[in-house]
Amino acid sequence: MSIDLAVIPGDGIGPEVIAEALKVLRAVTGPAGVELELTEYALGAQHWLETGETLSDETLVKLRRHDAILFGAVGAAPGDTRIPSGLIERELLLKIRFALDHFVNLRPAKIYPGVPSPLAAPGKVDFVVVREGTEGPYVGNGGVLRKGTDQEVANELSVNTAFGVQRVVRDAFRRAALTDRKKLTYVHKHNVLVHSGHLWKRTVEAVAADFPEVAVDYLHVDAATIFFVTDPGRFDVIVTDNLFGDILTDLAAAVTGGIGLAASGNLNMDRTAPSMFEPVHGSAPDIAGQQKADPTAAILSAALLLDHLELPELAAKINAAVTADVAERGQLGVRPTSAIGDAIAARLG
Ligand code: NAD
Ligand code: IPM
Ligand code: MN
Repeated sequence: MSIDLAVIPGDGIGPEVIAEALKVLRAVTGPAGVELELTEYALGAQHWLETGETLSDETLVKLRRHDAILFGAVGAAPGDTRIPSGLIERELLLKIRFALDHFVNLRPAKIYPGVPSPLAAPGKVDFVVVREGTEGPYVGNGGVLRKGTDQEVANELSVNTAFGVQRVVRDAFRRAALTDRKKLTYVHKHNVLVHSGHLWKRTVEAVAADFPEVAVDYLHVDAATIFFVTDPGRFDVIVTDNLFGDILTDLAAAVTGGIGLAASGNLNMDRTAPSMFEPVHGSAPDIAGQQKADPTAAILSAALLLDHLELPELAAKINAAVTADVAERGQLGVRPTSAIGDAIAARLG
């Protein structure tokens, strides 16, 4: 068997962490007789500066042909005035998520044995956030009136469709039904966001009828941030909208040992297009080019990729190698990027 993989290393620490993820992917697929065919796409800030392309329709057509996409990170350094703020993020990263219908943004959060959390006594923490990936305020459906005047009005419209909410909520229920605890927490803000919040509420209530074995809990997003810090062990599966999910998963990463460990999958669960796997973190311009980035998040994202491609035994091997490596490392961020990749790859060889 072979995997036809598109690789988009991107900007900043993106190429540094992707090099290690590929090292580990090679180490795990080689002995299993799985062939890795890699096609690298040099997209990102530098490519835009050189060519003016963020992501052309032709490149998008090519991306669609692969089995999966491995993505590093994008984003220009702050203060780089040549690149409009957020341009690459919106026109490359979000464009791929929308075009390839990545409606489930899966973001696991787990405290690995031996990894210090900033919380004094976090207990056992192992949950997954199912973040909606194609709607919400991310669609860019806003507008500005009287721009630049002191009467300026800036509107940001959050789009929530019955179709979009239902498919992600149903996915989260399916995942919750497969866990030991069978618990789903949906997070929104329906005390204030009465239109979208109530669509989410009605949808969760309706889908719940098909999953009587799943216990359902609701938290307003502000209260959810309290429990992420005071009692993260209470969570099993969380489902929430695109923006709340973005914010909560950086918080989840912080409480489970750091953003350098947080992996994600942008999943097209209907399999009408390739899914994309990437660390939760960004291009980290503050540490780029110094071999200071922890590549573990990218490596764990590669494990999610193998899982999605129905190679769970290979994914489990990466997870076991990472578990052993972080337990030995203890304090994170003490070894250079490539040394971490080498150590994890060595455990697979
Ligand atoms: P960031 O995640 O890049 O960095 C936040 C902090 O975490 C920084 O101090 C950084 O050094 C640290 N950090 C990040 N990844 C790390 C790793 N692997 N190991 C160790 N430390 C790590 O977030 P930001 O500073 O808000 O954003 C920087 C740029 O990245 C912006 O342009 C932003 O839009 C973009 N961004 C892109 C993605 C993506 O491509 N998926 C995600 C988030 C942010
Ligand atoms: C993430 C990032 C992106 C998001 C940005 C860069 C568009 O923060 O993947 O978490 O908000 O989804
Ligand atoms: Mn984010």
